[in-house]
Amino acid sequence: MIAIGSDQGGYELKQEVMGYLKDHGYEYTDVGSYTPESCDYPDIAAKVVQMILNGEAEKGILICGTGIGISISANRYPGIRAALCTDCFMAEATREHNDANVLCMGGRVVGPGLALKITETFLTTEFSQGERHIRRLNKIEENYNDYINE
Ligand code: RB5
Repeated sequence: MIAIGSDQGGYELKQEVMGYLKDHGYEYTDVGSYTPESCDYPDIAAKVVQMILNGEAEKGILICGTGIGISISANRYPGIRAALCTDCFMAEATREHNDANVLCMGGRVVGPGLALKITETFLTTEFSQGERHIRRLNKIEENYNDYINE
C-alpha cells in the first residue's frame, strides 16, 4: 500500500502519479487534498506519515509546489526518511543508500514525464542492505534520541 498526498501546488501532478500507480497495479490511498484549493502541506504530510508509522502503508508519496515544505514536514517524524527527488539518480540512490520510505516531488519543478520515471525508479529499487548504510540509518535515529534525551 502506498499513501499519497499533495497540497494545491502538487495537486495536478498527484493525479498523474495516481494514474501511473493504478495502471501499474499498485494499491494506494489518496489522503488529500481532494481539491485544487489552497491547503497546508504539513497537514498532508502528517496524514501520509501516520499511515506509514501505523503500518497501513509501506511507502508514501508527497507532492507540494517545490517538494521542500512537504519533505521538511515529513522528516520531523522519527522513522520517516523522506527524500526530495528531482531526477532518477536521486530516486535510485535514496532507495539503495537511505532506504527512503517517502518520495517527495515538486509539482512546479518536475514535469509529469520525469515525475513518473522518478516514481517508477523509487518504487522498484530495493535498499542495498549494505552494512555502512544500515549503520548510518541507525545513527539517524540514535543521534536524534540522544538529542531529545539530553
Ligand atoms: C504553496 O504555495 C507552496 O508554498 C507549497 O506548495 C510548497 O512549495 C512549500 O514548500
